[in-house]
Amino acid sequence: MPAITFIHPDGKSDRVETGDGESAMQAATRHGLDGILAECGGNAMCATCHVYVDESWLTRLPDMADDEDALLDGTASERLPNSRLSCQIHVTPALDGLVVKLPERQV
Ligand code: FES
Repeated sequence: MPAITFIHPDGKSDRVETGDGESAMQAATRHGLDGILAECGGNAMCATCHVYVDESWLTRLPDMADDEDALLDGTASERLPNSRLSCQIHVTPALDGLVVKLPERQV
């Protein structure tokens, strides 16, 4: 199964295995990671699953939809060019090894 590394604001990291068809958000919450709240359950309505994608992976992610783009304008931590919603990152084998950083806060 593809694995994702989540880097916490303090520099510590957690590498989590993803399940079949899971989003990065689902993998994080299933492993109880602090830093991903996912209040809307992955319906692209809350922006509390905000992550910063490691620059080396940015071009390998699918383009964001308009609703994700709009929600990212309302994140609790600053939106950066590499901001994405982790519930909209559906992990495929091609994303094995993906690295994302968690923002300081989600609300
Ligand atoms: S979990 Fe709510 S927008 Fe991602």
